[in-house]
Order: sequence, then structure tokens, then C-alpha cells
Amino acid sequence: MENAQTAGPVRIGLIVGSTRPGRRGPAVAGWATEVAAGHDAVRSGGATVTVLDLAEQQLPLLDEPVPAMFGDYRNPHTRRWSALVGACDAFVFVTPEYNHSVPAVLKNAVDYLHAEWNGKPAGILSYGVRGGTLAGEHLRQILTEVRAMVVPTAVSLTVFTDFDFSGADPSDPTAPGRIAPATERAEALSAMLTEIVAQAHEPRPGDPVAADAGAERVG
Ligand SMILES: Cc1cc2nc3c(=O)[nH]c(=O)nc-3n(C[C@H](O)[C@H](O)[C@H](O)COP(=O)(O)O)c2cc1C
Repeated sequence: MENAQTAGPVRIGLIVGSTRPGRRGPAVAGWATEVAAGHDAVRSGGATVTVLDLAEQQLPLLDEPVPAMFGDYRNPHTRRWSALVGACDAFVFVTPEYNHSVPAVLKNAVDYLHAEWNGKPAGILSYGVRGGTLAGEHLRQILTEVRAMVVPTAVSLTVFTDFDFSGADPSDPTAPGRIAPATERAEALSAMLTEIVAQAHEPRPGDPVAADAGAERVG
């Protein structure tokens, strides 16, 4: 079955959820893009990956007068972000953990939109001192509210074990280290991508096919 939005490849948007100078987000996203490039779905042309870096969006703190669920966007930055997210069939969210949650910039970017997330598969790739799992779990709740379909497999990178700090000054808190995740991390990411692509081929809630199936079950 074709995915609901397009008969072409599943277009996966890989959202980089941190923006601070010296952030590790782009390194994590670069690693994820490399792993994705080796995934069967991408190699066969069944999926594509596009990086959506929040640092490039420069979204102000939410300044839309109408809540996103009404789809009445007034600002050019919202319309631009809406077009980028709306063009994706699925997402991988790359989020660090900031004080046991996601960075404010990522929550803000989710809050800007609504329909653009609805019914689309999403995977969570978190990182932090302890794998960023608390951020990942918060993000799962946030995405559930905007009706994204969060896939079961999540990937967690731990700063002290999935980055290589050899040669870095141990007293320098800004040393980013070199990303060097364990093999199991790539395997988990690959499994997550498989789930995302499979979910993208399922009818979305509200699709005519899904509605028919529901009617058959009821009748
Ligand atoms: C404001 C702030 C809060 C943080 N809070 C946590 C935390 O609660 N748990 C954790 O494991 N790491 C925490 N860290 C460490 C980050 O997860 C780690 O530095 C990560 O690389 C940050 O992502 P970034 O480099 O893309 O900004 C925090 C870092 C920052 C800047």
C-alpha cells in the first residue's frame, strides 16, 4: 500500500533539536544520516532523509495569535516551517536532554504546528549525560498530543560512552568530543527506521481506507 501522503518515497525529516553554539546536535544528526544512508529503504529509493535544523529556522518564541490546531498561520516564519514539516511523511527527532526535558527551542517548534505532525510516524533519538532518556520520554508525550505516531524503538546516546574525548582537555566543559557510538546504537537506529517506514505505509487515522476498515469492523 502507498503511504497516505505520496506514492513516492517516504520523506523522513530529521529534526535537529538544539541550537546553542558548540552543540553536539549536528554531529548526532550527521551520524544518523550516515546510518540511514546504509538502510535498505534509503538505498532502494523507498525513503529519503532531509535534515531540518532548528538553528536555521530561527523561530521566535511562539507568536501566533491562533492555536496551531486551527491552521490559521499569520507569520511568514510559521508558514515556512509549516511547508517544511508538511512536506515530510515521517520524522526522526534528534533531541538532547536539558534539565530532564527537551530544549525549549524544540518544544516551541512542535507547538508552532499541528496538522503537519498528525498521523505521521516519528522516532526519537536522544542524547545526554545519561542517554537523554527523560527528554525522550517527555518528547513522546508531546508528540502524542499532536497525534504523531511515535514508533516503539528509541535510540539513546550517552555523552561519555558514545563520544570519544581522547585528546580533549578534561577541564574544558565546551569540548564536544567526536561522535563514536557503539555498534548497537546503529542497529537500534536501523530498527527504528524500519518501524518508521513500515508505519508510513499504514493508512493514517481518518484516511478513507482506515475509515472503511473501521466501518467493516463495526458492521
Ligand atoms: C541547559 C542544559 C541542561 C542539561 N541538562 C541535562 C540533564 O538534565 N540530563 C542530562 O543527561 N544531560 C543534561 N545536559 C547535558 C546535555 O545533554 C549535553 O551537554 C548535550 O550535548 C547537549 O546537547 P547539545 O550539545 O546539542 O546542546 C544539559 C546541558 C545543558 C546545556
